[in-house]
Amino acid sequence: MRSSAAGKRCRRCARWSPAISWPATCAEARPVPPDLRCKRYRSACLFQVARLCQVQPDFAALGDAMTVIWSDGLRKLWNALSDVIPGQNEVVKDVIKGLMVAVLVAAITWLASKVVGLLRRLLARVLDRNDHRWRVERARSAVDRGGPGLWLAIPADRPPEYVDRMSSRPFVLAVANEKGGVSKTTTAANLASAFARRFQRPILLLDLDFQGSAGSLMHAGTQWQPQPPHLSSASEAISGDIEPAMLVRPTGFAREFTWIDSRGVTRRTPNAFGLAAFYDLKDTEDRVMVEWLLGDRKQDVRYTLYRLLRAPGVRERFALVLIDCPPRLTTACVQALCTSTHILIPTVLDPTSAKAVGYFATQLKRHEGLWPHLKVVGVLGTMTRQLQGEQDALRIAGDQLRATLVGNESKLNWLDRLGIPYELPYDMVLRDIAEIGRAAERGIAYDCVSRSDGGDDIRGYFDRLCAVLEDRMSK
Ligand SMILES: Nc1ncnc2c1ncn2[C@@H]1O[C@H](COP(=O)(O)OP(=O)(O)OP(=O)(O)O)[C@@H](O)[C@H]1O
Ligand SMILES: [Mg+2]
Repeated sequence: MRSSAAGKRCRRCARWSPAISWPATCAEARPVPPDLRCKRYRSACLFQVARLCQVQPDFAALGDAMTVIWSDGLRKLWNALSDVIPGQNEVVKDVIKGLMVAVLVAAITWLASKVVGLLRRLLARVLDRNDHRWRVERARSAVDRGGPGLWLAIPADRPPEYVDRMSSRPFVLAVANEKGGVSKTTTAANLASAFARRFQRPILLLDLDFQGSAGSLMHAGTQWQPQPPHLSSASEAISGDIEPAMLVRPTGFAREFTWIDSRGVTRRTPNAFGLAAFYDLKDTEDRVMVEWLLGDRKQDVRYTLYRLLRAPGVRERFALVLIDCPPRLTTACVQALCTSTHILIPTVLDPTSAKAVGYFATQLKRHEGLWPHLKVVGVLGTMTRQLQGEQDALRIAGDQLRATLVGNESKLNWLDRLGIPYELPYDMVLRDIAEIGRAAERGIAYDCVSRSDGGDDIRGYFDRLCAVLEDRMSK
């Protein structure tokens, strides 16, 4: 190791510095000043330590150097003040100098704190602007022309326990089809009443269509529409404002089904509970979606309903949850499919509607990454009138599902993998029964149509449908 009076060569990096007296290596370097007032030494301390040492910069040395510079500066100031202050008395001079230095130090400290505060505010502003830009970019990417689409642009942020909770009972059955007016609501509501009687345990029907059709059926004879400024239960549910405990309490959000009997008396259906939707749901859906896109909501809005319906307490209370979906892939509908274990697709049996089942299946498959546990439990012909061509339409609907869902990665085509046809047999279709439409004013047909008006046939039909669906869901 070469050494000189002013410096040494580092043993590790072989650099040599005339300004610093090196010990064995740069890592152990401690500046030992030949002269505290040496300008070269000061700059070496401040700037060269980190640059010369290829190892961790020596912050202790930097600290030492700063102290030296500070005290050196003060000493210079002190000496300079002696010349400025008039008089011969050294004690008086020292007192005056002390006061002046104290005032100066206080002023510098105050100024430094102001500068630091200003820099901090500036930095916060810059960061905020970036954050704002990030939010706008995220929202824009979700609606980009030619992009993956609103619900796929942002990767799914599923809660960690999603797989476990979706793989176990109780089931959540969504009744859905993007085509409107195919008897989704009628089927879901009657199935809810039938399942409540079948299980003899509480079941829950969730209405997610802002038209409120399911609400008017399940809470007939009561004031079920929310009074502003209150929101409908469905709005509260999809925005995450209902705690699971509120759904479990007997006097909580879920209201019992009611119907009006032939004497005009309002009666209750045991074990059947519902959450109704109303027109406020539309605004709520838009609001939560925009908040999520802009990053105001930390939790993935697609799984809000999952967090409510698959919470342990709710799963213990309800033997089954049914969801009446709207005829569009709305925020609420996406939430419903992300929390459903099964989906039933009702369709009117004409060729156009049958093909629409294929389009709906395409959407289900396209978004399968969002709902990897969703299983198609069947396609159900509805409002049939025993006309020619209905059986063909049912077959077309089944074929459309088979062709679209074949080879998918999720569980959507699990029925097909078991070798079970998607289409529920033609003798299981829901016929066009005038009494079902007429009863809507008084409640769900299953509950309120009397035996003399063909109520037993309706109840018999939905009881059979329940059995078939339960069998399929349990496979
Ligand atoms: N099996 C049936 N027999 C007679 N009328 C029926 C039957 N099923 C449904 N309806 C009537 O058809 C109309 C539409 O039914 P429903 O509201 O259940 O369809 P939907 O698919 O839920 O509609 P939307 O897409 O608007 O939500 C209603 O007036 C309902 O009473
Ligand atoms: Mg409906």
